[in-house]
Amino acid sequence: MKGRFVLVFCFYLITVNHVTCSDPEVLEYLNRTQPALRQLAEFKLRHPKPIGILTTSAGKLVELREITTLNSDSFSNQYFIDSLSHSDAERIPERVVHAKGIGAHGYFEVTHDVSKYTKADVFNGIGKKTPVFGRFSVAAQNLGGNDLVREQKGLAVKFYTREGNLDFLCIHIPVFFYKDPLEFAPFIHSAKRNPRSTVFDPTMRWDFVTKRPDNLHGQLWINSDFGLPNGYRKMNQFPIHTYEINNKHGEKFYVRFNFISNQGIEFLSDETAREIGDIDYFNRDLYNAIENGDYPSWNLEMDLMTMDGLKKLDYDPFDLTRLWKKGTYKTIQIGRVIFNQNSDNQFRDQEQSAFNPGNLVPGIPGPMDNVFRGRRFSYRDAHTHRLGVNHNKIEINKPLYYKVYDRDGVPPVRENMKDAPNYYPNSFNGPVPYVDPSRPKERLVIYESNAVDLEPAAEFYNEFLQTEGQRERLVNTTVRSILPIPPELQRRVIRLYTLTDEDLGTRVAEGLKRALRMPPPPPPRVIRLNPRNSNDHHRQHYYST
Ligand code: HEM
Ligand SMILES: *[C@@H]1O[C@H](CO)[C@@H](O)[C@H](O)[C@H]1NC(C)=O
Ligand SMILES: *[C@@H]1O[C@H](CO)[C@@H](O)[C@H](O)[C@H]1NC(C)=O
Repeated sequence: MKGRFVLVFCFYLITVNHVTCSDPEVLEYLNRTQPALRQLAEFKLRHPKPIGILTTSAGKLVELREITTLNSDSFSNQYFIDSLSHSDAERIPERVVHAKGIGAHGYFEVTHDVSKYTKADVFNGIGKKTPVFGRFSVAAQNLGGNDLVREQKGLAVKFYTREGNLDFLCIHIPVFFYKDPLEFAPFIHSAKRNPRSTVFDPTMRWDFVTKRPDNLHGQLWINSDFGLPNGYRKMNQFPIHTYEINNKHGEKFYVRFNFISNQGIEFLSDETAREIGDIDYFNRDLYNAIENGDYPSWNLEMDLMTMDGLKKLDYDPFDLTRLWKKGTYKTIQIGRVIFNQNSDNQFRDQEQSAFNPGNLVPGIPGPMDNVFRGRRFSYRDAHTHRLGVNHNKIEINKPLYYKVYDRDGVPPVRENMKDAPNYYPNSFNGPVPYVDPSRPKERLVIYESNAVDLEPAAEFYNEFLQTEGQRERLVNTTVRSILPIPPELQRRVIRLYTLTDEDLGTRVAEGLKRALRMPPPPPPRVIRLNPRNSNDHHRQHYYST
């Protein structure tokens, strides 16, 4: 009896593994199926035979009788112990924000001469190509969450330059929510799940926004037509901060970088998002496009100001919660980022990728605002928690060249600098620093006001939104969002909106009044099965009586 079961099982494995690629049924299947759903079928086409003999993680060849524990001593079976205990430990902490994403490889190509402004090697030499890795992400959703929600979507790009890694971390709206890095933790708490109810809770979010009204401008963007892009390919991306850059003479310039989509930009309404109803819509769209050879690309440009221009401004160009005013800067093309290869292993590349805005190169000293300073610390700290202290030695994060005095720690340590001196300074020819004669002598010190300025939000409503339809949809989305929150808090939102713009406040108030009079939506339709005459108690649990 036992022998026959084993035989039947083997036979099944062998037949399944021998369907060949000349099978017209398989070809037809491949032809009509999207890339994301035929990945394994394609693997098999490339590997018409099993790719090798199965082993344990320590390399012991696995014998056929070890692939079941039934009717055997399971604790004599190292394959079983290996498999079970490895799967117990296969998760690492998800990112505290931007947990769900998808990564792709590609390259950056310089298209314009920007040597006047920055000496960064990666941006100089028309036609020069630099490999990049990009990670597209949601913001408040957890790993495995829903792509189709209204929130800032992210794109992080790591340039593997000859002068070290350069990372840009961007979101799809050009303003940020706050300018004090101390707001990061409470902002994220209020935007993510309620710790008691487990669900996303607009009360927390609106409470925080009204307590810290600098958030309002960003919230208007998110609740407007610009709040939910139609997939990762159809959005622009902004690192937002004002970066200092310098040329080889040490002259400084102030820039905001922009990644402008060559696919055009498109957005989804909440209704359309509900109709699509695919929680993996963004990941699927990007993956399929790249597999189909439809490589998405972004032009990298910078909005630029000179030091003289900076002195003439009547607004703070370092303020993350506002846009630069029209007519105060010029826009300069740099190059193009193209993603032409899906990662062949998302955990290895995407989940283990560690982007840090503090990863900068000579010619880009970077931003000096306080949020940026907070981020220099926060990302490094998060990566150590999530990936270990040697996260920059993980393949996807490894720069082209490094020589360090850091040693040891949680693996991977790689060659651990072998027998080189492990302290600096030393007399034994360990690595030494270099001198950059064009490094700017002093850095601008900026004063950041904590006064709340509602002007950028008012400008967004009155000028950036160009049609009545856009304004009405902003009002409607806001009304839907504040409908479930306590009345006192609704009044606070309306008061803040009215302070920003009277028309906006009035319309939200009216919309809310209307919405409160609407009957509640009908309960969802459920499947209830007819009662059956049965004494079988299992059936009684499933059929109503
Ligand atoms: C005080 C301000 C901020 C703090 C403390 C902060 C902190 C963090 C942390 C801890 C992560 C998770 C990192 C990881 O585990 O790998 C993260 C991810 C991210 N942040 Fe921020 N952030 C801030 C502001 C911003 C801003 C202004 C932007 C964009 C303009 C931004 C864009 C991103 C993106 C795109 C990711 C995902 C990176 C990836 O794909 O791995 N963040 N942030
Ligand atoms: C694949 O699809 C195309 C277009 O639908 C069709 O012309 C072609 O005959 C199909 N090939 C196979 C092998 O089914
Ligand atoms: C806004 O909501 C009102 C009330 O539900 C509705 O009549 C109107 O069509 C909506 N406007 C838009 C642009 O969706």
